[in-house]
Amino acid sequence: MPTRASRPLGVITRGTTNPNRLRRVDNWIVDTCGEVLRAAPDPLVVDLGYGASPVTVVELRARLAAGVRPDVRVVGLEIDPGRVAVAQAAADPPGLTFARGGFELAGLRPVLVRAFNVLRQYDEAEVAGAWARLTAGLAPGGLLVEGTCDELGRLASWVLLDATGPRSLTLAARLSTMQSPAELAERLPKALIHRNIPGEPIHALIRALDDAWQAAAGYAPYGPRQRWLHTVAAVRAQGWPILHRPRRWRLGELTLPWPPIAPRTPTPPGAR
Ligand SMILES: C[S@@+](CC[C@H](N)C(=O)[O-])C[C@H]1O[C@@H](n2cnc3c(N)ncnc32)[C@H](O)[C@@H]1O
Repeated sequence: MPTRASRPLGVITRGTTNPNRLRRVDNWIVDTCGEVLRAAPDPLVVDLGYGASPVTVVELRARLAAGVRPDVRVVGLEIDPGRVAVAQAAADPPGLTFARGGFELAGLRPVLVRAFNVLRQYDEAEVAGAWARLTAGLAPGGLLVEGTCDELGRLASWVLLDATGPRSLTLAARLSTMQSPAELAERLPKALIHRNIPGEPIHALIRALDDAWQAAAGYAPYGPRQRWLHTVAAVRAQGWPILHRPRRWRLGELTLPWPPIAPRTPTPPGAR
């Protein structure tokens, strides 16, 4: 159980959430981070900042229990005590519990932390500190998945981090409703959302995806998946180090290592 520590680190922000909003990142976690969880002596997972309803924590637990290991323990941490009280009705101990906590993770040492749509409402200048604090709280070999999505989870992006820092960026979209990859720019993680400007790699990547999507218009009659597969392959052929996982590209995703996409200039102090 969480230790009774000092004040949780962070601030209460809007609690917007929705059922199934985080299914894309959850399915990616099951596929990509499952091994770390399977190998852990204590399969403890924290969902940080679950919002006004605990629904996405309930879903995360169900997906991990079904897809990775049934004895997973998921703790939903929220900085708003009112939201912690509301969530208690959904608790199902020991596999699913709720407690008050912030970036200090209430003293827990989870092997995996999911923090979605939390940093979005902070300043860009606060991201590095939040990442450092969260990764310092992980169990050895643990992972942090920090990202953003739209209200229904049709456009999403996330950064995977470990104790050494950011490892990768993933962009994910529901292809049947996406008009063009440029839409993903609105749902970038906080570390990148203000960097969609000329001279920054994320701007160049989104440009490249958009151009390749237009060039692949001839595949549209075969469906958006075919068009996306050709888009990703074309961007990769240009030299973008997109990880070679066509199995996941088919789902409307792509993942790149972090270094080539990291912001080129440091965050100015006080940047929003
Ligand atoms: C927009 S909701 C996100 C809900 C859910 N994760 C989702 O994506 O649907 C953000 C929540 O994060 C909480 N929050 C913000 N900073 C936090 C922190 N440092 N620690 C824990 N919760 C935090 C807010 O109080 C709010 O309820």
